[in-house]
Amino acid sequence: MASRIPLVAGNWKMHKTPAEAGTFARNLLGNLPNNLAVNVVVCPPFPALPAVALKLADSWICWGAQNMHWDAEGAYTGEVSAPMLQALGCRFVILGHSERRVLFGETNEQIRKKVEAALSYGLKPIFCLGEELATRDAGEAEIFCLSQLADGLEGLPWANPEALVIAYEPIWAIGAGRTAQPADAVAVMERLREKIASWHGRDFAEKVRILYGGSVSPESIGSFMKEKQIDGVLLGGASLKLDSFSAIIRAAAEAKQGT
Ligand code: PGA
Repeated sequence: MASRIPLVAGNWKMHKTPAEAGTFARNLLGNLPNNLAVNVVVCPPFPALPAVALKLADSWICWGAQNMHWDAEGAYTGEVSAPMLQALGCRFVILGHSERRVLFGETNEQIRKKVEAALSYGLKPIFCLGEELATRDAGEAEIFCLSQLADGLEGLPWANPEALVIAYEPIWAIGAGRTAQPADAVAVMERLREKIASWHGRDFAEKVRILYGGSVSPESIGSFMKEKQIDGVLLGGASLKLDSFSAIIRAAAEAKQGT
């Protein structure tokens, strides 16, 4: 099996002013040794990106955005584009988060266009998918997630397995204080990886990072990271506090060492 460097991504959602985000980024950098075997990305709200970029420039921690439009420019009030994010040094962009899908009505078709645009600008999409509780209770979680994967990614020019990251985030676990069972997350992820292998081959699929997201905490991180299929986590609430974010990053790095 290919060894995949774990990734811990922090989605700050609509939290932190530019000053708060910049201070947090500086403190995070100061709080962690720079030789951890883990990749870290912070995704602040758009206005805080320049402040974060300034503090993290030339460091080992990356930054990214939480959304973007698929066109490079145009009459789209309130939107931002891939080249704008690229100009701010973003390496990643979260796309298809369930809050975008559910609260703002983003469709699979729109998300697919965003993923394609991000790839073409060399921004790494963190492509999110996941089921509602009713879908899981009906025993249809895997089939639902597979169809979201196909709607978002099938047939796209995705040439490098490391150019895109997938985040499996069951909607019922986000911000709920309740996580999925690691074994249930692994079952979904195995199906996702098989599907990617059917499109791009087994070697390619083995190099794609698949994260878990949904109420991960310093207490639960170990149970996820000990699973071979789980390559890291997408954090919401736990990434807003220096102590919990740092603890999770350290635990993710340690868990995968020697595996
Ligand atoms: P949470 O959010 O960790 O607060 O559940 C996860 C996410 O929305 O990505």
